[in-house]
Amino acid sequence: MSVIPYKDKDGSKREQVAEMFDNISPKYDLLNHVLSGGVDIYWRKRAIRLLKKQQPKVILDIATGTGDFAIEALSLNPEKIIGVDISEGMLAVGREKIARLKKENIISLQSGDSESLNFTDNYFDAVIVSFGVRNFQNLLSGLSEMNRVMKPGGTCIVVEFSKPKSFPFKQLYNFYFKFILPIIGNTVSKDSSAYTYLPESVQAFPDGEAFLGIYKKAGFKNTKCISLTFGVCSIYIGQK
Ligand SMILES: C[S@@+](CC[C@H](N)C(=O)[O-])C[C@H]1O[C@@H](n2cnc3c(N)ncnc32)[C@H](O)[C@@H]1O
Repeated sequence: MSVIPYKDKDGSKREQVAEMFDNISPKYDLLNHVLSGGVDIYWRKRAIRLLKKQQPKVILDIATGTGDFAIEALSLNPEKIIGVDISEGMLAVGREKIARLKKENIISLQSGDSESLNFTDNYFDAVIVSFGVRNFQNLLSGLSEMNRVMKPGGTCIVVEFSKPKSFPFKQLYNFYFKFILPIIGNTVSKDSSAYTYLPESVQAFPDGEAFLGIYKKAGFKNTKCISLTFGVCSIYIGQK
C-alpha cells in the first residue's frame, strides 16, 4: 500500500501530493531549513558537486518545488536548467526566488509530471532530483522517464531521505522524526498531515540497495549510493 498524505480523503497519491505541497508552499523553505538544522543545504551542495567534472550544459531538475536544487546547480555554469513540478504553489515561490536572483535567463520552472515528461528522448546532459522521488505515485515509471529524457553518457543524481541504521543515532533520529518534527511542521505549515506524511513516506521508501535495484531496472548503470549524515540522507548516482 502506498503512503498518501490525506488518508481520510479520496484522490490519487499524485493529486494529494500536489494539494499538500500547494498548502505548505509558503512555509516550505523555512521549515526545510529549520527542521533539518540547515543540513539540507549541505546535502544539495554535496550532490551538485558530483556533476562538476561532467559540466552538464542542459539540466532537468525533477520535482523542483521552490527551486533550491536548480539554484544550487547554477554553480555548474550551465546554459539552461528546466525545473518541473506538479505543485503550482511551489513553482510560484520558486519563480519569485529566481526572479530575485535575476536568473530567469538560465532557470525556467514549468508545470509537469515526472511520470510523463513533456520532453523528447535523449535531451538533457544531466537529470537531478532532490527529495522528490519518494512522492512519486509510481517510482519505477518516474525513474524510467528520467532515464528516457537523458542523453546516453549523462548522469542522474537522486537525493532522498533514507533510514539511519546504527545505534544510538537511529533511535534519536526516529524519536525526533516521528514525534517532534510533525508537531512543529504541522503547526507552522497549518497542514495537519504534511509533516506526518514525511516520516511515514520515508519509512515506506526503499533506500540503499533496494533503491539501487529499482534504479537499475529503470535503465541506469554504474549506479552508486553515497550515505550522508549517519544515513539520514542518500545520494544515488546513475548513468545512461
Ligand atoms: C519535498 S519537495 C522537494 C522540492 C525540491 N526539490 C527541494 O529539494 O526542496 C517534493 C516536490 O516534489 C513534487 N512532486 C511530487 N510528485 C511529483 C511528480 N510526479 N511530478 C513532479 N513533481 C512532483 C512536489 O510537488 C514537491 O514540490
